[in-house]
Amino acid sequence: MTRTARPRHYLMCRPTHFEVSYAINPWMDPAKPVDTALAVAQWERLYELYVELGHRVDLIDPLPGLPDMVYAANGATVVDGRVLGARFRNAERAAEGPAYLEWFRARGFTTLDPVHVNEGEGDLLLTDRYLLAGRGFRSVSAGHAEAQEFLGRPVIGLDLVDPRFYHLDTALSVLDGEQIMYYPGAFSAGSRAVLRRLFPDAVLVGEEDAEAFGLNVAGDGLNVVIPEPATGVAARLRAHGYRPIGMDLSELLKGGGSVKCCTLEIREAV
Ligand code: ARG
Repeated sequence: MTRTARPRHYLMCRPTHFEVSYAINPWMDPAKPVDTALAVAQWERLYELYVELGHRVDLIDPLPGLPDMVYAANGATVVDGRVLGARFRNAERAAEGPAYLEWFRARGFTTLDPVHVNEGEGDLLLTDRYLLAGRGFRSVSAGHAEAQEFLGRPVIGLDLVDPRFYHLDTALSVLDGEQIMYYPGAFSAGSRAVLRRLFPDAVLVGEEDAEAFGLNVAGDGLNVVIPEPATGVAARLRAHGYRPIGMDLSELLKGGGSVKCCTLEIREAV
């Protein structure tokens, strides 16, 4: 199978103020030291890699007091140039929603400030046909409905059941078009059945790779940027004709995020 890369447009946020001062997922431990300078250096390598791969990367200014703002994927969901803002479940992250929305508003995008909780591309992942929507830990069904109405894409609700995989983008990735990869153990039995029915050719990943954040990846149709320790995922991707590129984001993992979490895709109107 020949794969082709299509340049992407991303939004990222430098982890200038990154720290782990609260715990809202099982990966976060405020007692563990975080090296902010190392986090910035690792993040910069990811940024530079995207530029080398030919992607356009815009930056949003990091705000003091919002250490999780580096996880740009949670900031919004952008489809056909329409921007659904994020509404966070946890008070610690609440101010990120308006900050991201303002970035888009200032640049002339059509925006919606949502009423119900949705944590952006953390829980809303677009395939050619569907908007796959995670719930159970953060985003809620009413937020999915808001997404479907505003973005005009059919939402498929998926129930997450393992707290380690609290966002959909920690358990499932869209590689290209209708090609997805996921860790079945993160989903309820009914959601697993839905995924099997809609995506019979999906790449299935085991627990070890999921724990290494191997599903938290950003692909362009050929190149797939993955966390370095997810070696099993790299092998699976190679076997499917993709080109995996490993990145060390160990410091950002302490906040419970990796490659995809740091990357918000901007899909312009066509
Ligand atoms: N500390 C952040 C939180 O728990 C990490 C978010 C990771 N982002 C993601 N897209 N999964 O909200």
